[in-house]
Amino acid sequence: MDNRPIGFFDSGLGGLTCIPNLFSRLPEERVIYFGDTARTPYGSKAVSTIRHYADQIADFLASQDVKMMVIACNTITATCLEELQARFPQMPIVGIIGPAAEKIAENCDSTNNIGIIATKVTIASDDYNTMIKAKNPALNVYSKATPAFVPLIEEGIVDNDIMDLTIRHYLDDFVAENNLDTLVLGCTHYPIIRKEIMRLYPQLKIVNPSYEIIGRIEEILREKDMLAAGNDRENIFYASDLSENFVNMIQKILEIESSELILKFKNLDL
Ligand code: DGL
Repeated sequence: MDNRPIGFFDSGLGGLTCIPNLFSRLPEERVIYFGDTARTPYGSKAVSTIRHYADQIADFLASQDVKMMVIACNTITATCLEELQARFPQMPIVGIIGPAAEKIAENCDSTNNIGIIATKVTIASDDYNTMIKAKNPALNVYSKATPAFVPLIEEGIVDNDIMDLTIRHYLDDFVAENNLDTLVLGCTHYPIIRKEIMRLYPQLKIVNPSYEIIGRIEEILREKDMLAAGNDRENIFYASDLSENFVNMIQKILEIESSELILKFKNLDL
C-alpha cells in the first residue's frame, strides 16, 4: 500500500482529461498535476526545448514525493519517455502512447482504416504507427498533424463554428481519402473536442488513449503493491500560469466546484 500521490503532467490542461478516468477506476488514488500553461503548446516546438521543459517538470514532481509519474501528454511521451525513465530509474514512469497502441493493435484488423491525429512533434516521431505495427504489421495506419486544435482548446474555443471549421479543415479530406473508420485522439487535449468530432463524423469509432493509460497505471501499482487505500490526502493542481481560462476549463473537465479545487501557481524558471 502506498498513499503518496501520482504525478501527472502535460503542456497545459490536456492531461486533465485522464484524471476523471483515474478517479472512477481507482478512487483511492490522489494526484499532483502539473500543467505548463505558461509555455503551452509544446507540439510544434523543437525537441530540445520540450526535453528541457519536461526535465524541469519531472524534477518538480520528484521533489513532491510522488510514487509514480504519468506523462499525460503524447508530445512529451514521444520525445522524452526513455530519457526520463533513465533519469529516474527508481520511479515508475508511464507514457500515454504505448498502452493505447497496444489496445488498437489488439482490437483492429486489416479491414480497419485507422487515422491518428496529434501534434506535429508526435506525428513526426511516428510512434503510434511504429508501435501499432510492431504488434500487428497488417494494420492500415494513417497520420495527420492537427496543430491548431491545442491553442484553440487552451483558449476555451471548443463548441462553436470556429472549432467546427477547424475540425473540417483537418479531417474532411483525411477521413474521406483514407476511408477511415477509426480515429485515434493522439493528443490529450483532443478528448475535449470529442463530441464535436463525433457530431461531424458519426461513422468514426473514436479511440481515446486517456482510458488505456489508467489501465497501465493500475497494472503497475498492483504489481508493485503500491495501490492506495483509505487515502485522506488531497489532490493538488499546479499550473505555470493560472489564467481565467485554465480555471474555467479545469472545473469543466474535472466537474468540480472551484471551492473544492486546490489550485497552485508554480513557475519552474524561478
Ligand atoms: N496534450 C499534449 C499532447 O498530448 C498537447 C501538446 C501541445 O502542447 O501542443 O500532445
